[in-house]
Amino acid sequence: MPATCALCDDLRYRTRAGARWAEAVVCSCQDACKECGGTGRQRFDRPDGRVEFGTCSCRHLAARVQHFNRAHLPATYHSKRVERFDLADATAAEARKAVLEFQARGKLGDRGLMLIGPPGVGKTHLLCGLLRFLVLERGMTARYVDSFQLLEELRQHFELGKGASKLREEVASVPVLGLDELGKTRATGWQIEVLDQIVSRRYDGGLTTFVVTNYRIRPGEGGDPEPQLGGRRRAEVVAPKAAEESLQDRVGQRIFSRLVAMCRPMEIVAPDRRLKDG
Ligand SMILES: Nc1ncnc2c1ncn2[C@@H]1O[C@H](COP(=O)(O)OP(=O)(O)OP(=O)(O)O)[C@@H](O)[C@H]1O
Ligand SMILES: [Mg+2]
Ligand SMILES: [Zn+2]
Ligand SMILES: [Zn+2]
Repeated sequence: MPATCALCDDLRYRTRAGARWAEAVVCSCQDACKECGGTGRQRFDRPDGRVEFGTCSCRHLAARVQHFNRAHLPATYHSKRVERFDLADATAAEARKAVLEFQARGKLGDRGLMLIGPPGVGKTHLLCGLLRFLVLERGMTARYVDSFQLLEELRQHFELGKGASKLREEVASVPVLGLDELGKTRATGWQIEVLDQIVSRRYDGGLTTFVVTNYRIRPGEGGDPEPQLGGRRRAEVVAPKAAEESLQDRVGQRIFSRLVAMCRPMEIVAPDRRLKDG
């Protein structure tokens, strides 16, 4: 059946590239809400004959749109959808399946995913598509952050001698965090400290976290062939080639160990789409 509203495909919202981040707006097809006539209050007739009044779904939609605008997804990824991720390869298919599964049934506090892979295989696409869905369709509060930008903003914050950082607090406490580009800079000194605090708080609080990285996981240190990943399958561990740096090398063992407990690692091995499409 064709969509009634060609503007939003009947999603009731539209997204667009804002000046800095992805933005959403409530679609104009929702201007005159048929449910509440614009009052925001809706009558519910219960099966037992009781009548109750509550907030109309159009107001929930407005709140979700606001949350999306605060999630700070990169502008050019505003329209990415997990459903539109093509299956270039078996590992891409597996990753998409896991992301779709979370989209449909994931709950706050559930273990997230760590998408590992070389440039251009669609990791940020999947992450942004997932966050878009969780916020706009499932009403969750989520935040996207690029770890490189995060550390850069925190550095500027320190240098200006400001007190506690709002960004750091937000990233440590948001119910769903999408942390992109982890390991892009090799964390040292204060960067390790800050990342450690953020990750430890999320770990202790049982907050759902998704991580994207170009760096693979090095199995157990000190000649231990079986990585200490709390009973997870060996297949989840993607070993870097001898000369490659691992995620552990980039972020340190403490952060790494917590992240793997919080996010199920999945590797995508596929051709770089930027080279193919460009
Ligand atoms: N399987 C896919 N189906 C549809 N589009 C894809 C797929 N893989 C990648 N793309 C598209 O290719 C472009 C590059 O993908 P993306 O930015 O997600 O890569 P990435 O894995 O995050 O790379 P990097 O590690 O360099 O950040 C995006 O426009 C994305 O939508
Ligand atoms: Mg990316
Ligand atoms: Zn519409
Ligand atoms: Zn309404």
